[in-house]
Amino acid sequence: MGTDHEKDFLDSIIDSVIVVDKEGKAREVNKATLKLLGYKKTEEIITLPFEKICKNFSTAGLKDKLPLAEQELIYLDKEGKEIPVSVNITTRIFYPDDIIFMGRSISKIKDLISELTQSQEELTTSYKELQASKDDLVRSEKLAYTGRIAASIAHEIRNPLTNVSMSIQQLKKGNKINQEGFKHIEIVERNIKRINYLITELLNCARPAKLNLQPYDIHKVVNEVLESYKTKIDLQRIKVIKNFDSKLPVLKIDKEQIERAFLNLISNAIEAMPRGGDLTINTELDGNFFLAKIRDTGKGIPEEDIINIFDPFFSTKTQGVGLGLTICYGIIVSHGGTIEVDSKFEKGSLFTISLPIEQRTTHTERE
Ligand SMILES: Nc1ncnc2c1ncn2[C@@H]1O[C@H](COP(=O)(O)OP(=O)(O)O)[C@@H](O)[C@H]1O
Ligand SMILES: [Mg+2]
Repeated sequence: MGTDHEKDFLDSIIDSVIVVDKEGKAREVNKATLKLLGYKKTEEIITLPFEKICKNFSTAGLKDKLPLAEQELIYLDKEGKEIPVSVNITTRIFYPDDIIFMGRSISKIKDLISELTQSQEELTTSYKELQASKDDLVRSEKLAYTGRIAASIAHEIRNPLTNVSMSIQQLKKGNKINQEGFKHIEIVERNIKRINYLITELLNCARPAKLNLQPYDIHKVVNEVLESYKTKIDLQRIKVIKNFDSKLPVLKIDKEQIERAFLNLISNAIEAMPRGGDLTINTELDGNFFLAKIRDTGKGIPEEDIINIFDPFFSTKTQGVGLGLTICYGIIVSHGGTIEVDSKFEKGSLFTISLPIEQRTTHTERE
């Protein structure tokens, strides 16, 4: 090599050509190589050991494996910047000591691949978000539907139920009933109560038409709910841990509704820990959202059930109605918030409520 003809031939090749001699040094390079690696003159690169041109690559013992096609190597330019290249490595019959590297930069392809990967990740995220909002939509549609049905059924049942109730009262007043009769009356009354409770719960399911929004301290709501469950909490030896952020702004909430939401979440947590455990309630600020996290160390929810727990009438309890979380969901959503669950079967559950902080009035402003 080295003749003008050969030089001319090498320079006419669009790919980078580097001829490495048996000492592992660049003996000959073409113009494309100079351009690729940012050298001005051939002399700057000639006699450089190949390790200076190609990262983490040794030519020792390479000859026995030749030819090698489409090897992904990392060339180093004059400044040491890494350039990914796809290289074909060969040798020549008449110059068996030479190794010829014919390379083409794949930086652009690499960039494209990384752009593609990023786009794909973005697509996956968007898809997940879309799926989540679709789930939300289906859920709120279900809720609205349940609400409508509930309201009409409740009205239909309430009236005859009141009649039954009144008749029972009359029966009790008379003297014609023996002990056996009273036993049955009690059963009827108990069941009337149960039906009444179910109807009330069903009605609660329908989203409140209008929220009565007033500034109210959510911590106070939580404390009141905890207080109402004190006996159960003590009886079941549940340890209550409160981490309230006292600097949180006071939100405008429908106190009764939010109380009902916490009642349901806290009662579920208590019911999940019949043999004791920790009930932890955290509050914190997250951007423009107030977060309340209710964590228990109870039964947890099997993965396959998670998707169903907010559905009306989904319950795994013998005495359960399955409307608690449905109601809770409706209340939080009508406040412009969200409710999320994270649970591990037999380890415990975490319910996170987030409520937007709108028209905020802080504690200090209020005082
Ligand atoms: N903290 C919790 N730990 C374990 N399971 C829970 C918890 N909260 C809710 N669940 C599951 O979700 C179901 C639905 O809850 P809910 O709507 O309150 O109805 P109910 O309490 O009447 O069963 C429960 O039956 C239970 O299986
Ligand atoms: Mg419940």
